[in-house]
Amino acid sequence: MLLLLLLLPIVAFAEKNVAQAEAHGEKNTPWQNYVLRCSGCHDMDGSGSLAGGIPPLPGFLGTFTQDPAGRLYLMHVPGIVASSLDDAQLAELMNYLNDKWGDPQGYPAFTAQEVKTLRGTPVEDVVKYRRQLVKRYLKEGMKTADYPWP
Ligand code: HEC
Repeated sequence: MLLLLLLLPIVAFAEKNVAQAEAHGEKNTPWQNYVLRCSGCHDMDGSGSLAGGIPPLPGFLGTFTQDPAGRLYLMHVPGIVASSLDDAQLAELMNYLNDKWGDPQGYPAFTAQEVKTLRGTPVEDVVKYRRQLVKRYLKEGMKTADYPWP
């Protein structure tokens, strides 16, 4: 018990440091990363912009995350490639967004290892690749968002 009492201030101190580091952007939450790196285009509610050619994410993200080829596609979307997030941060962000706007049930969570593998798997032409995927999804009765280059 005495040991616990002695340790408590240390734990409290460590927690304070983590909070401060987060406030300085050293360890952002997935939502903070979305706000900083995605929401400028996709908007806070993920609705995007039809006029701006930015597809909405809510209700459509799960179509990609439930399919291995869709998961590969996601890791090659330009806005995600350019995000400068590391594998673990990106896995965390995609899981967060899928819980929020995708299909939280029907998919396995991304791991840093999977993200690393997918990022290292070349996709020659991402627009063409999406077109092929969407053709299959529509046949399977799944929904996809309007896209600037259908
Ligand atoms: C500079 C604006 C911009 C930023 C920043 C951006 N995106 Fe995008 N995003 C787009 C546009 C435009 C498209 C559609 C064309 C394309 O793929 O580039 C798109 C496509 C997507 C798609 C594919 C949707 C579909 O139906 O195929 C996903 C998923 C996505 N973005 C997620 C993200 C995430 C997550 C981030 C942040 C890490 C992000 N984007 C950052 C503009 C952006």
